Amino acid sequence: MTTILGIETSCDETAAAVVDDGRQVRSNVIASQIELHRKYGGVVPEIASRAHIERLDGVVREALDQADCSSDQIDAIAVTNRPGLVGSLLIGVTAAKTLSWAWQKPLVAVDHVVAHATSPAIEVHPPPWPAVALLVSGGHTTLYLVRDFDSIERMGSTTDDAAGEAFDKVATILGLSYPGGPEIEKLARNGDPTRANFPRTMLGKDSLDFSFSGIKTAVLYHVHGQGKTAGGLERWSQQDLADIAASFQAAVVDVLVAKTMRAVQRAGVSTVVLGGGVAANKALRSALERECHDRSLTFHAAAMQYCLDNAAMIAAQGYHIHQRGEFAALDLSATTQ
Ligand code: KG4
Ligand code: ZN
Repeated sequence: MTTILGIETSCDETAAAVVDDGRQVRSNVIASQIELHRKYGGVVPEIASRAHIERLDGVVREALDQADCSSDQIDAIAVTNRPGLVGSLLIGVTAAKTLSWAWQKPLVAVDHVVAHATSPAIEVHPPPWPAVALLVSGGHTTLYLVRDFDSIERMGSTTDDAAGEAFDKVATILGLSYPGGPEIEKLARNGDPTRANFPRTMLGKDSLDFSFSGIKTAVLYHVHGQGKTAGGLERWSQQDLADIAASFQAAVVDVLVAKTMRAVQRAGVSTVVLGGGVAANKALRSALERECHDRSLTFHAAAMQYCLDNAAMIAAQGYHIHQRGEFAALDLSATTQ
């Protein structure tokens, strides 16, 4: 058995986890900073870095305690070193390097986005590959062809805003708090998704890329009007706002589902997996599940606790890197991309 301690600090969650053999999660501890950033309407990098410094030590201890694991039972330390906020990443990377040196255990560097893409395989055996993976988060919207944990090919990606970013920006337009995705989903539950016909930007019939900046602008104009007609939120009832949220969500889901099906056809695979923060959205999960069912495709969404940023997915992906013997040196650095 190989036991990996995972550490994740790329954005605003301080997280540590202990995972056996890349799929059995023994602990998955996440200290969310949402409350610290909410009043600013988004993540403030300086505040995020400071909070990681304050919390990481306790979060790592908690992950080891919950797993009932001592340092000598850990085989390697896996840490996110890209992409993300560089100040935040460096806190995790520095802690991981220190533990690697103090415990004399190998260090493994993990790409956060790749970890999101393979997170649907956690606790799934055998792994669901080959599959088309749709990764939808605050920073990324990408389709991958995953042949195996070490064979991951990008098929398409967003040309502007990520899906989560569109949810967050539209939430701000609708006067909702940060992070906007869960707020939009909640509001949309009582809304009519056919009330407003927001654009489904497909970027040509063969494209596997995404563009979500147009829909954000369309919602802005719909809500506030343009030029002389411009007005505030107060002219909309709660039901109107719910209808707008539902219509926006439906448009984003339609595009994500359609492009994923295009990718499946192109790749010639019969499995679809879904990961990333926006994968927590139940409308998206059930729309993809329905479409896959109708086309006799297998569908795996990452379990809810592995959708938002977490260290279990870092330890899980780190395991496969460890098995290949790809260790990082103690001069490992962090990069934003
Ligand atoms: O993966 P994640 O935790 O962080 C990044 O790597 O970006 O994703 C965060 C994003 C945010 O944009 C948030 O609004 C979105 O995921 N999100 C959701 C939902 N829960 C989180 N979007 C739509 N519906 C949700 N239920
Ligand atoms: Zn993420």
